[in-house]
Amino acid sequence: MNTETASGAVSAMAEGTKTYGSGETALRALDAVSIAVPRSSWTAVMGPSGSGKSTLLHCLAGLERLDAGRVALDGRDITAASDAELTRLRRTAIGFAFQNFNLVTSLTAAQNVALPLRLSGARPARGEVRAALDAVGLGDRLRHRPGQLSGGQQQRVALARAIATRPKVLFADEPTGALDTSSAQAVFALLRSMVEAGQTVVMVTHDPVAAACADSVLFLRDGRLVDRLDGAGAATVAAVLTGLES
Ligand SMILES: Nc1ncnc2c1ncn2[C@@H]1O[C@H](COP(=O)(O)OP(=O)(O)OP(=O)(O)O)[C@@H](O)[C@H]1O
Ligand SMILES: [Mg+2]
Repeated sequence: MNTETASGAVSAMAEGTKTYGSGETALRALDAVSIAVPRSSWTAVMGPSGSGKSTLLHCLAGLERLDAGRVALDGRDITAASDAELTRLRRTAIGFAFQNFNLVTSLTAAQNVALPLRLSGARPARGEVRAALDAVGLGDRLRHRPGQLSGGQQQRVALARAIATRPKVLFADEPTGALDTSSAQAVFALLRSMVEAGQTVVMVTHDPVAAACADSVLFLRDGRLVDRLDGAGAATVAAVLTGLES
């Protein structure tokens, strides 16, 4: 482990390789990547479809394991952590908003948001759940079930669920993919306020405008980290992305 990670300045890091399948169907989803996300920063991950963005997020969050390499999360090396340790760490330090939202269809929006809090043993205060849904503009949809919500609203419930635990590190896979411009802007403001409060955000996005809100942008292609921009505007981000897709 490098000294930066040991001192806790790095919030999440992964270096290594991840392969799905074996033999002829083996697919290298991450190929010798090396990524370190500073604490209290906002990182965007971009790249063509299938380039390994979701895989990278899952490995950083301890949801999947690299087949070779190291992962550290919240200052701890989790490469060899047991499943029980990983579960505990995820419940206490990590928020994850998935690409497919992963909401429980039989529960209301408020119950979905309360679920991780309940799983971590807390008795969620009604105010906490409401505050998270208010933060994503859904304070008036507490009792709606996912089937009664639009795709963008479901996505925001998933984000509210991820932020309700006040995670040290928030991983969000295309958190604004289904949102209109003004809802997306509200989410960007929310993420920025989290970072200002000391939380760390790692977000996958296809949108150069979204990526330009982050402090730095990592670009993946074919499972490899191929470029990185710091403090870039949307036009610069778009130009790099176009170069990768061509
Ligand atoms: N569970 C899995 N089993 C086998 N292959 C997988 C699995 N998950 C992902 N892959 C493969 O790994 C590669 C990277 O997938 P990943 O989901 O990380 O891409 P992505 O960059 O998130 O793409 P998108 O922008 O479409 O969401 C793809 O080729 C994909 O087919
Ligand atoms: Mg993906």
